[in-house]
Amino acid sequence: MNTSSQLFELAYKVYQQAYAPYSKFAVGAAILSSDGRTYSGCNVENISYPCGSCAEQGAISAMIAGGSKEIAQILVLADSQDLITPCGACLQRIQEFATPECEVLLADLSGIKQVLKLQDLLPHAFQNQELCHE
Ligand code: THU
Repeated sequence: MNTSSQLFELAYKVYQQAYAPYSKFAVGAAILSSDGRTYSGCNVENISYPCGSCAEQGAISAMIAGGSKEIAQILVLADSQDLITPCGACLQRIQEFATPECEVLLADLSGIKQVLKLQDLLPHAFQNQELCHE
């Protein structure tokens, strides 16, 4: 299986675990890290709506907890006629751990429909190395 099919399968599996009783809009995300590992996450809503988290957020947390440092590809999947792209906050979260060339794969339940670069989705990302003290 190639890596994008692997990401699709992972995202589909985790999409089925989404906790979205309020929006009824389940989302799955899967990451291929630059060191060749994979991670996934789903949206987890909350009765206090702003406390909910996006699928991408869950997948990024899993990646950091798993010891990987960089996102090479991230696939986002939902059962939607309009392909979904990561929300603005998630684009910023992705860009923290990615280069502008990072691939964002957009999928519905039937497969990957579009591949964009992070730089296409967030062309003028907030970045300021002066704020990084590592
Ligand atoms: N959502 C995601 O998990 N990722 C996205 O890229 C877009 C939106 C979630 C948040 C919320 O639980 C539901 O989808 C409806 O907005």
